[in-house]
Amino acid sequence: TNGARSSHRLRHVSSLAAPPPSRLNAVVLGDALASEEHDLVIPKPDFSAQAHFPSPAKYLDLYKQSIEDPAGFWSDIASQFYWKQKWASPVYSENMDVREGRINIEWFKGGITNICYNCLDANIAAGNGEKIAIYWEGNELGADATLTYNQLLHKVCQLANYLKDIGVRKGDAVVIYQPMLMELPIAMLACARIGAVHSVVFAGFSSESLSQRIVDCKPKVVLTCNAVKRGPKVINLKDIVDAALAESAKNGTVVDVCLTYANESALTKESTKWVEGRDIWWQDILSKYPNSCDVEWVDAEDPLFLLYTSGSTGKPKGVLHTTGGYMVYTATTFKYAFDYKPSDVYWCTADCGWITGHSYVTYGPMLNGATVVVFEGAPNYPDSGRCWDIVDKYKVSIFYTAPTLVRSLMREGDEFVTRYSRKSLRVLGSVGEPINPSAWRWFFNVVGDSRCPISDTWWQTETGGFLITPLPGAWPQKPGSATFPFFGVQPVIVDEKGAELEGECSGYLCVKSSWPGAFRTLYGDHERYETTYFSAFPGYYFSGDGCSRDKDGYHWLTGRVDDVINVSGHRIGTAEVESALVSHPQCAEAAVVGVEHEVKGQGIYAFVTLVEGVPYSDDLRKSLIMNVRKQIGAFAAPDKIHWAPGLPKTRSGKIMRRILRKIASRQLDELGDTSTLAEPGVVDQLIALADS
Ligand code: PRX
Repeated sequence: TNGARSSHRLRHVSSLAAPPPSRLNAVVLGDALASEEHDLVIPKPDFSAQAHFPSPAKYLDLYKQSIEDPAGFWSDIASQFYWKQKWASPVYSENMDVREGRINIEWFKGGITNICYNCLDANIAAGNGEKIAIYWEGNELGADATLTYNQLLHKVCQLANYLKDIGVRKGDAVVIYQPMLMELPIAMLACARIGAVHSVVFAGFSSESLSQRIVDCKPKVVLTCNAVKRGPKVINLKDIVDAALAESAKNGTVVDVCLTYANESALTKESTKWVEGRDIWWQDILSKYPNSCDVEWVDAEDPLFLLYTSGSTGKPKGVLHTTGGYMVYTATTFKYAFDYKPSDVYWCTADCGWITGHSYVTYGPMLNGATVVVFEGAPNYPDSGRCWDIVDKYKVSIFYTAPTLVRSLMREGDEFVTRYSRKSLRVLGSVGEPINPSAWRWFFNVVGDSRCPISDTWWQTETGGFLITPLPGAWPQKPGSATFPFFGVQPVIVDEKGAELEGECSGYLCVKSSWPGAFRTLYGDHERYETTYFSAFPGYYFSGDGCSRDKDGYHWLTGRVDDVINVSGHRIGTAEVESALVSHPQCAEAAVVGVEHEVKGQGIYAFVTLVEGVPYSDDLRKSLIMNVRKQIGAFAAPDKIHWAPGLPKTRSGKIMRRILRKIASRQLDELGDTSTLAEPGVVDQLIALADS
């Protein structure tokens, strides 16, 4: 409970101090390029002057308040939202210590609200009905559309009315498998409006992955689209959904309705395969429904959505977020981490199929009444200047993307960037993986013309919103550091034994005490929630990431320390890829590790052992990769298959991944002790086969 923990909360504040000015080997933002010699980038005074947080002092002051009195801090902020009924007391309650019983986190319990109402109706009531909510940019140059807040509300209400009409009720699951059309945020908001729990599945997942998620959450309806064009390629989503629904039915989950948006720029209705009685064309039916729809008022702790993510075992985890805390947290982090002002035009390149698209395409921005760009296409189509073309077209002022995109555009040369004005940009953002200092500098110097602070936001599907993030204008920045904790967040770095490390240190990143946006459980598996996140270091939430803190208190994320890899910002469990590989009839065993990849951050490197007597061939390699594409999705396809007649194992049969990682990254002089292996000879054999 909250009162008792406030003394713990205080302890950390003292270790957080502003960097001593004497050590600032600094450049003023805009006065010089951020270069190798300068490890601090000071915000430009005119930026800071207009920022929500113009100085470290203001941040530190509020941070201290948020830790000393989280209940007071967050209820002041929550009061700015619309609540049908105010929350009860206490503002929050938590048990984050497995030794003290069931893990439990609740914020604003008893408060009655609706997040869709706060995104749309509340902004309209405040006079923003005619403000642009969405600028939609299609795959093809010149294909675009807009929706004002009023128009968005109408579309959301029509879909909400339809969903109610087919029997979707509060608490029912709805699966959404859609590309980045406006219909995707519309679908999320429509579910939220009627209290249904959406589960968006990224439209790059295969039918088998989609089916696995459908069987897990048993939706009343699947919302999809017949096809989409990404770059020059047409992807037939409806075929994937058809296969997924057939597979789900075999596994006992029959979905009665498949509402399909006709995206005729990619595929005509006539060419779309159709299951009579189950499939309904979105446009045909929704126009028949009224464009206003009463809100279903829900408790702050009622579920808002499920989002499946990868862990260290094969089965994806259904991360569950609830309504009130998530609403308050995403809105607040959005506003401060991007220094958002009502005149901004905001573009986040993430797909709504991932958490970034939930919190920072849809909910966070719309709760602030922001104008959001939604882009259907690919950033290198028709050429590598597309992003900056879009920035100029809509006068984007806040641009939020992933390091993998920065690195891939960096390789194409500055010309694609500098031929566009980009004058509208004022804040840049990065997410999904550590941003290496050279990519940071290119993003800062070339894209942002050395004017725009970069918010390198560290967070996770589980955390709902940013936990460690710069506040633009407040702090001097260090290229590659996510800087400091957001309000109310107490990151701690612990050693293997779970002891908190102070000052300059490196170890495992945990969080002490809850924050409003934290996930509440794994759907249908609270026990896995407790063991995965709260048992490794009792008393803390364990993120799965490594982190170091430097002498000035800046945080540097160093990547996952578990069997999760991060490929182009997509989170993939090595166990999932292994299970897809061994399902191939000719594969006996597989071990997958991540290796450094110049563009993707990490690449997927798979060691495979074949069934006795099967020869390794190029065709077999291709067919192994095909299995992964089919079972997970193209984004999880291994970059390298390494044929392994034997794998390095301990005498008890455990695969020594440490050795495999070294072989995969060709750090052969760092193999370490191989004497505990059951058959030390396999290591030399693997090295000999490395480039065959
Ligand atoms: O390893 C961290 C990395 O992405 C993981 C979370 O992945 P996911 O749940 O898919 O969410 C991605 C979008 C929030 C983390 O455990 N990660 C995310 N952001 C950063 C990061 N690593 C370093 N720096 C970041 N800014």
